[in-house]
Amino acid sequence: MNRLFISVEGIDGAGKSSHIDAMAAALRAAGHVVCVTREPGGTPLAEQLRQMVLHTPMDALTESLLIFAARRDHISRVIQPALARGDVVLCDRFTDATFAYQGGGHGFDLDVLGTLERWVQTQQGQDGQAGGALMQPALTLWFDLPAQVAAQRLCGARVPDKFEAQPQAFFEKVIAGYARRAALEPQRFARIHADQTPEAVRAEVLAALRNRGLLSA
Ligand code: TYD
Repeated sequence: MNRLFISVEGIDGAGKSSHIDAMAAALRAAGHVVCVTREPGGTPLAEQLRQMVLHTPMDALTESLLIFAARRDHISRVIQPALARGDVVLCDRFTDATFAYQGGGHGFDLDVLGTLERWVQTQQGQDGQAGGALMQPALTLWFDLPAQVAAQRLCGARVPDKFEAQPQAFFEKVIAGYARRAALEPQRFARIHADQTPEAVRAEVLAALRNRGLLSA
């Protein structure tokens, strides 16, 4: 069922958002019904939590709890029903972002994040007991870009949120967090070399979808 669950990741400024619409269009043209969604967010409650997480100062545990609360609501109300219908779910960020930003960027305890991940992303976790298969994307497109290049791209683009306002050193640690996750599950990750022209990046993205049988060759 999770074969159709795709997440898109990368540091702020990596350019993932501009490619998500194109991915959705290509998948729809191939006959898929596509649910485009995002984290934190994707439901009315989760979007409220997003506003708090992005704009209110808080410690890393509080931030992680709110993000996972948003994720639980999102999984049960949007992601699981869409996958059960046979739709492709294209999610702008998922749990790898928590390991990268809260774990890597803020240095928060990865074991606690792992516990929250199991609680929130298992069927049994929905009933209060963690266990069973982990709800995880089948494919994660990681837009990998040096932090310095991302900073130049973001410079003056818009009023930054809490994360976008972080110094370059923070994003170096976020990248290291993504790299750790990718090393643990290399079969799930497709690393996109985001420091290229939009056309070249798009070609890599479409190739990753073709490799997984989501688009025909
Ligand atoms: P982003 O996805 O970049 O949206 P936009 O393009 O509209 O700015 O913004 C979400 C921010 O939330 C981003 O800076 C990363 C952060 N974030 C976390 O810190 N942890 C998480 O688990 C998730 C999903 C996002």
